[in-house]
Amino acid sequence: MADLRMCLAVVVLQTVLYRSCKALWCNCTTAQCQKTGFQCETDGACRVSALLDNGQEQHIRTCITRDSLVPPGQPFYCLSTEGFFNIRCCYTDYCNGIDLKIPSVTAPTEPGTGTWGLVELVAVIAGPLFLLCLLLLLGIFLYYYHRRAYNHRQRLQVEDPSCDNLYLAKDRSLQDLIYNLSTSGSGSGLPLFVQRTVARTIVLQEIIGKGRFGEVWRGRWRGGDVAVKIFSSREERSWFREAEIYQTIMLRHENILGFIAADNKDNGTWTQLWLVSDYHEYGSLFDYLNRYPVTTEGMIKLALSAANGLAHLHMEILGTQGKPGIAHRDLKSKNILVKKNCTCAIADLGLAVRHDSATDTIDIAPNQRVGTKRYMAPEVLDETINMRHFESFKCADIYALGLVYWETARRCNSGGIHEEYQLPYYDLVPSDPSIEDMRKVVCDQKLRPSIPNWWQSYEALRVMGKIMRECWYPNGAARLTALRIKKTLSQLSVQEDIKM
Ligand SMILES: *[C@@H]1O[C@H](CO)[C@@H](O)[C@H](O)[C@H]1NC(C)=O
Repeated sequence: MADLRMCLAVVVLQTVLYRSCKALWCNCTTAQCQKTGFQCETDGACRVSALLDNGQEQHIRTCITRDSLVPPGQPFYCLSTEGFFNIRCCYTDYCNGIDLKIPSVTAPTEPGTGTWGLVELVAVIAGPLFLLCLLLLLGIFLYYYHRRAYNHRQRLQVEDPSCDNLYLAKDRSLQDLIYNLSTSGSGSGLPLFVQRTVARTIVLQEIIGKGRFGEVWRGRWRGGDVAVKIFSSREERSWFREAEIYQTIMLRHENILGFIAADNKDNGTWTQLWLVSDYHEYGSLFDYLNRYPVTTEGMIKLALSAANGLAHLHMEILGTQGKPGIAHRDLKSKNILVKKNCTCAIADLGLAVRHDSATDTIDIAPNQRVGTKRYMAPEVLDETINMRHFESFKCADIYALGLVYWETARRCNSGGIHEEYQLPYYDLVPSDPSIEDMRKVVCDQKLRPSIPNWWQSYEALRVMGKIMRECWYPNGAARLTALRIKKTLSQLSVQEDIKM
């Protein structure tokens, strides 16, 4: 009875609740549903999408939680895109078992070859004219309607300050907005309709990067800079996955890239998939180290903040407002950003996996992309990694962190010496190494980047060298944990009298 009342309350209030009554069973095709017999239970809706992926028909069936069903009536996650993918959400048990039609790119139709009668001719001429008039009238109506609604809102804003979470008040900065909404709500970020409003008022300024997924732009929003990652429409799943990971409850952390919004803009011909985040003008750690050498203090700050971010990512926080353990799976200097205060923010969570400790399962990303070959741990290269065991992914991250530390420590200016920037294994493998190239060096010959002897004479470099060695053990389980590294580097920063 109490359950039923709870259920009613949820439906009536339309509240975004995390723990509501799950009632709907759906077909499910994702890897984490394997254990439950390819079905999932949800409090929201069943979703099925059909798309053509490299010439292969794909039908993806999933569960959508109630709190993702916004805006009501036309939820964000339930919109199809003509010519790219068909999506349907439905609300009865196993209703997403149906096979949707695969979207086909519509070819222009040939004009008719017969001769036209008078009636057809009149219809052809008068029809569009009539439509044009109708559209004009509609336009005028909408214009006045919006003006009234806008004026009304302006009044509301003055009269009732408690309403200002409902739309974006003019004078609020993004930081305030995210802070307020994410601390009062679930902690997972802005509500989706706010995300959409933010995304649609960004003005793109310049392209700052390109990747396999698409492009990264610097954009302006209300006088502040934001970074916009634009995915090509083929990469819908990567976009969805990365947005999903960034919105994991309690993920926000000073050393993890701050997520602002995800949006899919449909301009009629194609869909633009946007991921909006904080902007850091120094760019990636890779760019930074290429450009500047670092001081001992700078090195420790970068290393400690990176360990801090990774420790937060890896850590599971228990409780209703808890956070699952997350492994990054593509850690490298190009995926770590350098903030204004010379600390790191870990970015690019598109390949990350989350651990569900209750069922001890991993929600493996549905896309088959694996990490960057150069940074792959030995057990990933020779495929001996135990994919069922979440800890093994964390250990692979630590191996990559060790390589990032090596790149950083080489650029550390101690006693007037610092080396030029190099990628890990630059002297052992070609510039775009294959898995086989890497496997020979890392697994067969058991080589690692070299740690110069002179590092022993400088305490900070000696400690960094020792950490690296302990990140690079062939046996993943023997490696340090992010938390351990964080503690060791904290001690070092105290010794060296560094203020973080
Ligand atoms: C959906 O699930 C139901 C119940 O488990 C099953 O009978 C049906 O075959 C499934 N349909 C598809 C297309 O997987």
